[in-house]
Amino acid sequence: MIEARGITKFFSIVNDDRTADGLTAVLSVSLKIGAGKIVSILGPSGCGKSTFLEILAGLQAPTEGKVLIDGVTVLEPLPSTRREMEEYRRKYQFISPLANGMFRDRPKHDIAMIFQDYAVFPWMTALQNVTFALKLRGVARAERIPRALPFLKSVGLGDSLNKYPSQLSGGMRQRLALARALAVGPKIILMDEPFAAVDTITRERLQDDLLRLWNETGITIVLVTHDTDEAVYLSDEIVVFSPPPGSVRNVFPVTSPRPRRRSDPEHVNLKSRVEALFKYDIDHESEYSI
Ligand SMILES: Nc1ncnc2c1ncn2[C@@H]1O[C@H](COP(=O)(O)OP(=O)(O)OP(=O)(O)O)[C@@H](O)[C@H]1O
Ligand SMILES: [Mg+2]
Repeated sequence: MIEARGITKFFSIVNDDRTADGLTAVLSVSLKIGAGKIVSILGPSGCGKSTFLEILAGLQAPTEGKVLIDGVTVLEPLPSTRREMEEYRRKYQFISPLANGMFRDRPKHDIAMIFQDYAVFPWMTALQNVTFALKLRGVARAERIPRALPFLKSVGLGDSLNKYPSQLSGGMRQRLALARALAVGPKIILMDEPFAAVDTITRERLQDDLLRLWNETGITIVLVTHDTDEAVYLSDEIVVFSPPPGSVRNVFPVTSPRPRRRSDPEHVNLKSRVEALFKYDIDHESEYSI
């Protein structure tokens, strides 16, 4: 179970004229995501989806609130007042910012993240991309290739092991990112628009690949997407973020059994409801801005 409690993220910015400014990217988001579920996050560009996903992964600390995974806090907000700083020092025996990074007892959650833009390393072959991820997780050298191969085969890359990402198609690169994420045996995969860069047919195939692998492994998937059809096809729940600063606008449960058919009236109906909300929000965006 992933639980986000009142997550807010504020960025301090220095303007070109050197004046200080700030931006609230995520505002008071609370969400519960059950184990083994697929949850999509939809929302207009810039509404804080990627930021929120990185906070779930523990790659960024929230300004306020916390994320619990199976009851364990991922990253606490960083101290902002003198009093908070003193408490923080006591708790983590703070010596210097650098030492602090080493001392902080960050709990390890089995999370894999697929980023929005740079999903795989271009200077490594398909096989090296996966074995490198295993190396980072401390898998012994001799076990890396045997562990990597079944995942590469299961995403259809068994014949492309020694190709570099530039020699793969867009869809193959996405499948490589998926194989690399799955190979480390995570309980949770966070995906940031993983299929945005491929054509519709490839995207639909990748969605089916993802569902098959999800069925086999029972992992929890949190997926950021711009594609309502994808959200309705894949998810147990669709969370729609408001225009910036991102907060939860609506949650749509998707209850139709899998395998789903895109032409199903239920599917079409839900898709148009989500799209209507989305369009309304974008048309009225200026009313939200602060
Ligand atoms: N490190 C940062 N410093 C300052 N501002 C940031 C930082 N990271 C993100 N932002 C700002 O926070 C807001 C939310 O960004 P984010 O990338 O989370 O949006 P998004 O919903 O993922 O957008 P998209 O759909 O275009 O990917 C944006 O206005 C962005 O400029
Ligand atoms: Mg993003």
